[in-house]
Amino acid sequence: MQFKSLTYTSLAALDLSDEQLRSVHDDAQSLNGIDGISGLLLFNGTHFLQWIEGPPEAVDDLVERLRRDPRHSAFEIRDERMSDERIFGGWSMKLVRVRSSYHLAHEDVVPQLPAALPDHVRERILGMVEKISEDVEL
Ligand SMILES: Cc1cc2nc3c(=O)[nH]c(=O)nc-3n(C[C@H](O)[C@H](O)[C@H](O)COP(=O)(O)O)c2cc1C
Repeated sequence: MQFKSLTYTSLAALDLSDEQLRSVHDDAQSLNGIDGISGLLLFNGTHFLQWIEGPPEAVDDLVERLRRDPRHSAFEIRDERMSDERIFGGWSMKLVRVRSSYHLAHEDVVPQLPAALPDHVRERILGMVEKISEDVEL
């Protein structure tokens, strides 16, 4: 089976509360369980970076819903590819809060990643963490 794996970044709404963040995460976990989607959501206090993977139609549907969601803006797809394996199969959506500077974000995210993660995926995630950190420091 072919899966679509897509990564995007977005800017959280200025007034996004902790409670709203929890509800984004809760909804994501339950809906993704139904839709066969898995992935990782990083939040650094201002930006989101999310990796979503699953059946291509389910991923495309989710992207349409995400584009309409007022809890974030500046939605930008950073990477999109097909793969015959899932990377985050055990996670319907794992939320990791990271600090905003790259080095601290790196420290926060590395221990949370699955140990068996292929090196090219680890590099891809860290490259994107660097990107959101740069955006914040501008
Ligand atoms: C940063 C962020 C990440 C989200 N991640 C997911 C997700 O992984 N899966 C999901 O179904 N909804 C996710 N949502 C919520 C969707 O945008 C949408 O509200 C939800 O899928 C319900 O769709 P509906 O409002 O059109 O019914 C996320 C929202 C935000 C702001």
